[in-house]
Amino acid sequence: MTNYQTNREIAQKSHSNKIAEKGLPARLVYNTISDQLILDGNAKQNLATFVTTYMEPEVSKLMGDVANKNMIDKDEYPQTADIENKCVEIIANLWNAPDIQNIIGCSTTGSSEACMLAGLAMKRKMQLRKGNKPFTPNLITGINTQICWEKFCNYWDVEMRQVPLEKGRYIIDPVEAVKLCDENTIGVVGILGSTFTGEYEPIEKLNTEIDKFNKKTGLEIPIHVDAASGGFVAPFLQKNLKWDFRLKWVKSINVSGHKFGLVYPGVGWVIWKDKKDLPEELVFNVNYLGGKMPTFTLNFSKSASQVIGQYYNFVRLGFEGYKKIHEESREIANTIAKNLKKYDIFDIISEGNDIPVVSWKVKDNVKFNLFLLSERLGYTGWQVPAYTLPENLTDVVVMRIVIREGFSYEMADLLLKDIEKSIEYCKANEEALEHTKSQSFSH
Ligand SMILES: Cc1ncc(COP(=O)(O)O)c(C=O)c1O
Repeated sequence: MTNYQTNREIAQKSHSNKIAEKGLPARLVYNTISDQLILDGNAKQNLATFVTTYMEPEVSKLMGDVANKNMIDKDEYPQTADIENKCVEIIANLWNAPDIQNIIGCSTTGSSEACMLAGLAMKRKMQLRKGNKPFTPNLITGINTQICWEKFCNYWDVEMRQVPLEKGRYIIDPVEAVKLCDENTIGVVGILGSTFTGEYEPIEKLNTEIDKFNKKTGLEIPIHVDAASGGFVAPFLQKNLKWDFRLKWVKSINVSGHKFGLVYPGVGWVIWKDKKDLPEELVFNVNYLGGKMPTFTLNFSKSASQVIGQYYNFVRLGFEGYKKIHEESREIANTIAKNLKKYDIFDIISEGNDIPVVSWKVKDNVKFNLFLLSERLGYTGWQVPAYTLPENLTDVVVMRIVIREGFSYEMADLLLKDIEKSIEYCKANEEALEHTKSQSFSH
C-alpha cells in the first residue's frame, strides 16, 4: 500500500462538503488550498477596498506568533493587555485628547463594532439623563453614512434621521443636521472620510452648529466622529484641521486600524474623551494583576494578532513613517485625478486630498457608462467599483479608487494605461451602455 496520492484524489477530498474520514499531509493541504484561492482577486489590484493589503514580513511573523493569544484573557496575557492600552493612549494623543488620564477606549474587530459601542454609549447616556424613563431615541447622520450605523439603529431600536444629499454636495450639511435634532437625539455622527467619495465632513462646522443648538435648548447633544478612514490620516496629513477631541462636542471617535492604520483586518478602535461619556454600567471589569481592567466589547474572544500588528506599526513607522506613507498615497491619488481630468468627461469629486481616495462622476450632458468602464478594467484584474449615490441622488453614478500602501507609481502607470484603453473601448461601444448594471458597493 502506497502513501502516494494523486492531485485528483486530493482535490476530491478537499472539495467534499463532508469532513473526510482521514486527513491529508500538511504540505499537500497547503498547496491545494492555495491553488483554490488563486481565483480570488489579486489584493494589490483591488482598488475598491479600504483595507490594508500589505504588511512587512517581520510583522506578519510577529502576528502569527501571537495568533494563539486571546485578547480577552487580560490576566493571562498582561503584556498584550498593556500593549492594547498603550495603543489606545497613542491614538488618543494623535486625536488631541485634552486629558489623557481621563480617556477610556478599547480595541474592536473594526469600525463597525466600534460604532456600535459608541452608539450604545450615547443611547445609555441619554437614558440616564432621562432618569430611565421610556423615550424614543433618534440618531442624526448624513444619508451617506456607512451601513454600520443603519445596523446600529436597527439592532438597538434607534430612529435614524438622515440628512439628504444634494446635487454637488455629497456629505452632511451641518445646518440641516441640527434641524433634525430634538430632546430625544442621542447624538450626531460626522464622518471623517465618506465611504462614498472619500471627502471629510465639516466636523468643526458641525460642532459650531451643535454648540449653538445646545446653548439655545439646554440640551447636551454629543458628536461622534466616524473616522474609520480619516482617523489615521488627518493626524499625519492635516494636523491643523480641527475635527477631533479639540472640539467641545466631539465626545467619542472610532477608527479602523485595518484601513489607514495599516494593519491586516480586523482591528478597530473607539475612544471616549472623558470616562463620564461611557456610562459605567456598560463596562465590565475583569480582574487583572490585582487591578481592574475595564472591558466593553460585543464579542468575547479574539486573537491578539491585530493589536500587536497595530503596535508594531506605531513603533516601526513612528509619526514620520505614517506621514510619509500617506503623503505618497496622496501624491499617487492626485496623479490619477489629474490624468482623469484630461479626458474632459469627468467631474472629479475627490482628488485624494482628504483621505487618499479619488472619486469621480461623469459630467452632466456627457454620455459615458462608468459601470462599463468598471467592467472593462476588471478584464485586466483591476477592481474599481462604480455605484450609485444614495436616495435623492440615485441617478448619480460614482467611481472610486482607494490608494493604499503598496500601490506604487509603477502600478499607477499601468492602471492609467488600462484606464485609457478602457475609456476608448467604452466610447466606441456606446450601444453597450444599457447592459451593465450597478455593482455591489464595496468598503
Ligand atoms: C465611514 C465608515 N464607517 C464604518 C466603516 C466600517 O468599518 P469596518 O469595515 O472597519 O467595520 C467603514 C468601512 O468602510 C467606513 O468607511
